[in-house]
Amino acid sequence: MELLIKGGTVVTATESFVSDVAVDGGKIVAIGKNLPFSADQVVDATGRLVLPGALDAHTHMAMPFGGTVSADSYLSGTRAAVCGGVTTIFDYPVQHKGETILGLVNSKKEILEKDACCDYAFHCCITDLNDGEILDEMEQAVSEGITSFKCFLVYKKEGMMVDDGMLARLLLRAKELGAMINVHAENPDLIDLRTEQYLKEGKTSAWYHYMSRPEFVEAEADKRVVHWASHLDTPVYLVHMADKEGLEACIKAKEEGHEVLIETCPQYLEFTCDVYKREDGRNFVCSPPMKGQESQDALWTALKAGFIDTVATDHCPFQSYEKDWGKDDFTKIPNGCAGVENLYPYMLDAANTGKLSFERVVEVCSTNVAKIFGCENKGAIAVGKDADIVIYDKDKDFTISVDNMHSDYDHTIWEGKKLHGYPVQTYLRGKLVYDNGDYVGTPGMGNFVKRAKRA
Ligand code: URP
Ligand code: ZN
Ligand code: ZN
Repeated sequence: MELLIKGGTVVTATESFVSDVAVDGGKIVAIGKNLPFSADQVVDATGRLVLPGALDAHTHMAMPFGGTVSADSYLSGTRAAVCGGVTTIFDYPVQHKGETILGLVNSKKEILEKDACCDYAFHCCITDLNDGEILDEMEQAVSEGITSFKCFLVYKKEGMMVDDGMLARLLLRAKELGAMINVHAENPDLIDLRTEQYLKEGKTSAWYHYMSRPEFVEAEADKRVVHWASHLDTPVYLVHMADKEGLEACIKAKEEGHEVLIETCPQYLEFTCDVYKREDGRNFVCSPPMKGQESQDALWTALKAGFIDTVATDHCPFQSYEKDWGKDDFTKIPNGCAGVENLYPYMLDAANTGKLSFERVVEVCSTNVAKIFGCENKGAIAVGKDADIVIYDKDKDFTISVDNMHSDYDHTIWEGKKLHGYPVQTYLRGKLVYDNGDYVGTPGMGNFVKRAKRA
């Protein structure tokens, strides 16, 4: 036996129980009390939680965006991931006009084969159907384990936007192939109209990033997506949900039986739009922006009630000097914030301090992500699954600082956030990769996750 984790409290999406966990060949091979095995490595987890590694369904590593490239490389971003208990990331490569899906994904795979510190999958962002070729190529992509694709309904000027017709074609084709379409929903025309007006009036601080795309700008697009998906009878996954009105439309569609899946992010659960009034407000600029208290309360209520399916990060950090480009003009601030190392600790702290259960955190950060996106070997402490395991100390206090993160960025919106409880070890397919503050793995040990199609 490779590894025996003894006496910890195993947490699944439905229950918690004290048990040993035995690992061999990178897989969980037995779960039970007082397992009678000897092992190369025995870990005493008494008093600790034994959790499945999180799957961060939303990251942007080394992404060309906002006139620069996001600050975490595939190496530093995946290193940070495992140090926060994330053992699989889903990255979002963006198609340049004319590019093929597999050409794009293979170029990223080449880098990740050398650099990945955790396992990885791709949701490919489609910006151009290449005269319909992409609709054909999606079949090949699905057969190679890329079973989800993304549409931006924004970023029109950046050439990344998908119009309603293209969205509909992609939704229908994805359904036919057993794939999923993920959507970033905001209304670009409303954003442009409001931005133009604020700039004309000399209103250029970070606050006007929020004001140019407030609640109703996101809600319009959320509702449009729900409308199309419901009437076309296709599943859809809304990424980084941040507003109450759109959330309510999604919940209503779910209650009517439509497969509308909802992702939110820790930044929307923690911060409100008030952060944009701060002197360093530009550092919090991401799209969609943080919203008002009512939206934040609605997100927590929906999360607790089981309506939110996943919590992911939208990890897309930029360096301070890049954020500073927009000191006097919010339109020049690269959009995105750090989060991959904070996801699981933040959500587990919420459980540890009584806001929701540990089982629910496991469900939204691990089990549901694996199920929705076809990662058959991931997402649970169960026999036969990959031994992606996090040992969590409920009593360890931790204050987030850029100095104790494992990324390449020079600041974080999470600076000073105090957490009660913290991961102390992460195992990737049975190998220790994070140990009490240190990355101890080897870049390149992360594998591509070939995903199954939806039934
Ligand atoms: O501000 C953000 N979210 N940047 C990353 C790209 C995206 O929209 O997801
Ligand atoms: Zn987005
Ligand atoms: Zn994103």
